[in-house]
Amino acid sequence: MLAVHLVSFFFSKLQEDPTKKVDRFLHAMRLHDDQLVDISARFQAEMKKGLSAESSAAAAVKMLPTHVRSTPDGSEKGQFLALDLGGSKFKVLQVKVREGMGIRKGGVEMEEKVYPISKELLNGRAPELFDHVSESLKDFLHVKKISLEKKHPLAFTFSFPCEQTRLDKGLLLSWSKNCRARGLQGKDVVQALRDAIDRTGGMDIEVLAMVNDTVATMMTCGFDDQYCEVGVIIGTGTNACYMEELRHVDLVEGDEGRMCVNTEWGGFGDDGALNDFITEFDQDVDAASINPGKQIFEKMVSGLYLGELVRLVVLKMAKRGLLFDGCVSDALRTKGKITTAHVAAMEEYKTGLKNTRDILVELGLNPSEDDCIAVQHVSTIVSFRSSNLVAAGLAAILTRIKQNRHLRTLRITVGVDGTVYKTHPQYPKRLHKVVRRLLPECQVRFVLSDSGSSKGAALVTAVAQRLASRKQQVDDTLAPFRLNQEQLQLVKARMRVGLEAGLKSKGPSAVKMLPSYVYHTPDGTERGKYLALDLGGTNFRAMLVKFKKGLQNNTRLYHKIYTIPLEIMQGTGEELFDHLAQYVSDFLDYMGIKKAHLPAGFTFSFPCEQTAIDTGILVSWTKGFKATDCEGHDVVNMLREAIKRRNEYDLDIVALVNDTVGTMMSCAYEDPQCEVGLIAGTGSNVCYMEELKNIEKIDVEMSKMCINTEWGGLGDDGSLDDIITPFDVEVDQNSVNPGKQRFEKLTSGMYLGEIVRQVLLDLTRGGLLFRGRVTETLKTPGIFQTKYLSQIESFSGVLQETTRALAPQCNVTFLPSEEGSGKGAALITAVARQKQNC
Ligand code: BG6
Ligand code: GLC
Ligand code: GLC
Repeated sequence: MLAVHLVSFFFSKLQEDPTKKVDRFLHAMRLHDDQLVDISARFQAEMKKGLSAESSAAAAVKMLPTHVRSTPDGSEKGQFLALDLGGSKFKVLQVKVREGMGIRKGGVEMEEKVYPISKELLNGRAPELFDHVSESLKDFLHVKKISLEKKHPLAFTFSFPCEQTRLDKGLLLSWSKNCRARGLQGKDVVQALRDAIDRTGGMDIEVLAMVNDTVATMMTCGFDDQYCEVGVIIGTGTNACYMEELRHVDLVEGDEGRMCVNTEWGGFGDDGALNDFITEFDQDVDAASINPGKQIFEKMVSGLYLGELVRLVVLKMAKRGLLFDGCVSDALRTKGKITTAHVAAMEEYKTGLKNTRDILVELGLNPSEDDCIAVQHVSTIVSFRSSNLVAAGLAAILTRIKQNRHLRTLRITVGVDGTVYKTHPQYPKRLHKVVRRLLPECQVRFVLSDSGSSKGAALVTAVAQRLASRKQQVDDTLAPFRLNQEQLQLVKARMRVGLEAGLKSKGPSAVKMLPSYVYHTPDGTERGKYLALDLGGTNFRAMLVKFKKGLQNNTRLYHKIYTIPLEIMQGTGEELFDHLAQYVSDFLDYMGIKKAHLPAGFTFSFPCEQTAIDTGILVSWTKGFKATDCEGHDVVNMLREAIKRRNEYDLDIVALVNDTVGTMMSCAYEDPQCEVGLIAGTGSNVCYMEELKNIEKIDVEMSKMCINTEWGGLGDDGSLDDIITPFDVEVDQNSVNPGKQRFEKLTSGMYLGEIVRQVLLDLTRGGLLFRGRVTETLKTPGIFQTKYLSQIESFSGVLQETTRALAPQCNVTFLPSEEGSGKGAALITAVARQKQNC
């Protein structure tokens, strides 16, 4: 007896371990770490392709922007309905989020009901599928006794690839997994849902956000773990999302901050990138699927396909005589007879072998002990490959995040969901182990979303709802700034009335229409060396201009800029002009021309009543200047006096020029058709060539004269009151010249930053910005400089576009004055000097 036992013992030892033949048969499915590193690198390259504007259209890995810009911060709140469509179960839910703050998160309560969806609906017409969705929603409201009268915000988890331009709009790119309802591809899924809800009727639902299940999973897990910046689904399908730097997302404007990107990694390999890893079984699974050639990576990884892969391997092994003594049953030949649940059961700890036997018997087979061990091993290899591939994909994403943030190590949490991950006994452990082995420098935590994705979808919706209501309030606040065509036409008409009244009036008028005593634009014969002095706003510019003989464009310019301190702008007139004389002295030294006694043009960018080219009485200061004893005085004289007081150099001030006039002249030197000069700077003003017959207040024998309109004063008589906002009133009241320059205060650089600051203050006080905290800095006048506006606003063609819209009969060219108005002032000086010499 003992001898017989010993013989059979040795005989069994001599027989091969049944897992070995499986290993040999499936060697292509057993991926080593170097292969995983290779796959990971390929996936990184695919991600780059999908993100870049040039290659995204053709990319296999779509990298879809989700418009979710942050993970939860605890301030989300509200009650939401939620729909979860695309996973193995279709669910309707109610999610209540109670607000917390920061690290202390609020509470979330959820109620859900699963509604079955038939195969016919998944393969039928999309409107019918969506009708079913909305009818289920209505049933849910009824069953849970939720009011039909009230408006309910709704979050929609839709787990298929959508191209989103907003949170509540997404075009379905293609179906995947087991759905292919007709008539939705290329259409807006949110609209399709809204239409279905309308068709069902009797509910007041506001669909606020649509999110992919990966995104919703990341948000769900992010609610409890602030490090969660990746969401992965290993379920019916497979996919991952993560927080990408916005500067890398070419398809979305803006560079600041992050946005969650739905990778749609299931499509990895659709362009052949994985061909050397694809087995004949993968090819068969793909060929028999509803979307052949598509979702290649998904078909190697996810629950819809794992059981089928195992069946095809077992079938082939049996046919080759490697299993069941070569016997094959009808059931084993039938698609779908081994499911992913079977795969999980076969790998169950302790009961796995028994489960395998039961499953095989159920399939009409008569397995030996070795057959059971071999089939169990097939399952292991197939599911192991799946977790290895997911690990390679994840390693690519985590490496990218690490590189994006220039970190050597990364602490991060991955939120995971899906039946494969949840129900397969070995899967999570294997996945975690491989990820950690591939990325030893990263501290990766995995969190299972045990409540599904709807909590996360509701959190996204809560943010969307808060943003929508904020946006509405912000829009309401800003509405008075948006002038429609009708209002602009009115302003145009009033400006015209103001210009005409100013031309006629000898006395004061809102639009002053000051004669400049400049009769021509330049003709190119101007020659010589001139000084141009330019006091315009916060700066004083001294310039030496040389016009070379015979060469129209051969002008040489040398200049120096001096900043005028506020105490000088607002001190005494004498001090101000002494300062200017000192700057001129410095410039003459700098240029080595102190003894030259050059003719000079003085650009003085404030309203002056001129009676000749070289005199001008300051009517009133504008733009923050209020030096005393200047208004009512001839500013040319004041400068001459200051130079005399210095007794150091001599200048021949030949012309007094407004900056608009200088600008017009400067541009007209380049383009003889230029007859309008516009300043949109610290102040706002325009000049133009007017027919002398229209200028009633002077009597000169010439055909035209340039008129400095001083249009900044429009509205000083109340004519703009209907478009002036409370913020403008505030800015005016706080200025050095309340009630004056009302048009200028609506348009120019000196005031725009202040207007924005007033708006920011108001929005903050209303709790719409900065969490309602008004800081001392924000309360400081002038803190928000106009240059910030130009940094924030890139919207620059507006002036030109609107001008064309309001004056369609005119063909206007805008020519920026490259060298400021100084060259123009020098040109005027040149002409005036020639006249003096004649
Ligand atoms: C569920 C989520 O828990 O998991 C769904 O709520 C998601 O949004 C699903 O689609 C994915 O897993 P499966 O296995 O159901 O496809
Ligand atoms: C499929 C879908 C994808 C989804 C995934 C998991 O891959 O295309 O959008 O996230 O399945 O459900
Ligand atoms: C102010 C001045 C005006 C000047 C304009 C642009 O409006 O009053 O003279 O042209 O600013 O600098």
